[in-house]
Amino acid sequence: MISQQPLGKTIPEGRTSFLPFYRPWIDEREISEVVDTLRSGWLTMGPKTIQFEEKFGAYVGAKHALAVNSCTAGLHLALDVAGIQPGDEVITSPYTFAATANVVLHLKARPVLADVVPDTMLLDPADVARKITPRTRAVIPVHIAGAPCDMDPLLELAARHKLVVIEDAAHALPTRYKGRMVGSIGDLSVFSFYAGKNLTTGEGGMVTTESDEYAERLRTRRLHGISRDAWKRYTAEGSWYYEIGAGAAAAPEAADVPRRAQLLRQPLPARSLRPARGEPAHRGVVDPACLAPLRHAAQPGVPHHRP
Ligand SMILES: Cc1ncc(COP(=O)(O)O)c(C=O)c1O
Repeated sequence: MISQQPLGKTIPEGRTSFLPFYRPWIDEREISEVVDTLRSGWLTMGPKTIQFEEKFGAYVGAKHALAVNSCTAGLHLALDVAGIQPGDEVITSPYTFAATANVVLHLKARPVLADVVPDTMLLDPADVARKITPRTRAVIPVHIAGAPCDMDPLLELAARHKLVVIEDAAHALPTRYKGRMVGSIGDLSVFSFYAGKNLTTGEGGMVTTESDEYAERLRTRRLHGISRDAWKRYTAEGSWYYEIGAGAAAAPEAADVPRRAQLLRQPLPARSLRPARGEPAHRGVVDPACLAPLRHAAQPGVPHHRP
């Protein structure tokens, strides 16, 4: 029998307290950092994101670390910047979260599952070798619960067959393989900061790479092709001016970027529809609080994203 506690927690009979699957360790330092962020108004790509990227890159030994809003988004972008096309095959593990294969499907490519080594549950390089075909373009090893995949044979296979190695490092902070930190081994590595992970931002992810070319493409494409992030636009030494599509020009779908940007520029009422308190979401009533920041933005010298 299961009894219900306040806050929706269920306690199996025989226990006096709820046993959580995980519990993020959040103390006053994290709380004061979050409050500091809220007070600063830099809710998106602000100074703390840049600091986080720099520290993260230094910690795992990667030249570039780029923050994204989830590991899923990071894996999707990694495949995208690696040039995965519809019909390409990407080999990965069956022992993972659905995101690893779903991102391949999002690009209309085909996830191909190679088996895992039974006693480690990690991708078996011998089975990866058997699954390679002329259509194979990439392999996504998935490190599980802090245990690294056997990367040497996978890297050797990748070099021989010209495959991109994108590590699903959602569970791999911190993880070492033969003395090297995961995040500095494959062509691209992607971490998760979802609430159940070792390090959490609530939701979030990080892509690391040694490649300047991949990093440049990631930097632009994570912002829908916008050439300058918010920090570069709204600081005193920055410039509000930006291009959409610049820097993404080498991308096969570059022609689509301005169109997508256009879609994002819908008229104000359509984008600020939000139910008023107590109203059902589908009514689409404009909450006056939504419009306050926009009125604020009309004043000269006030960045438009200010809360
Ligand atoms: C192995 C693996 N890959 C990818 C993800 C997706 O991470 P996110 O929730 O940050 O998108 C998860 C999430 O649990 C995961 O366990």
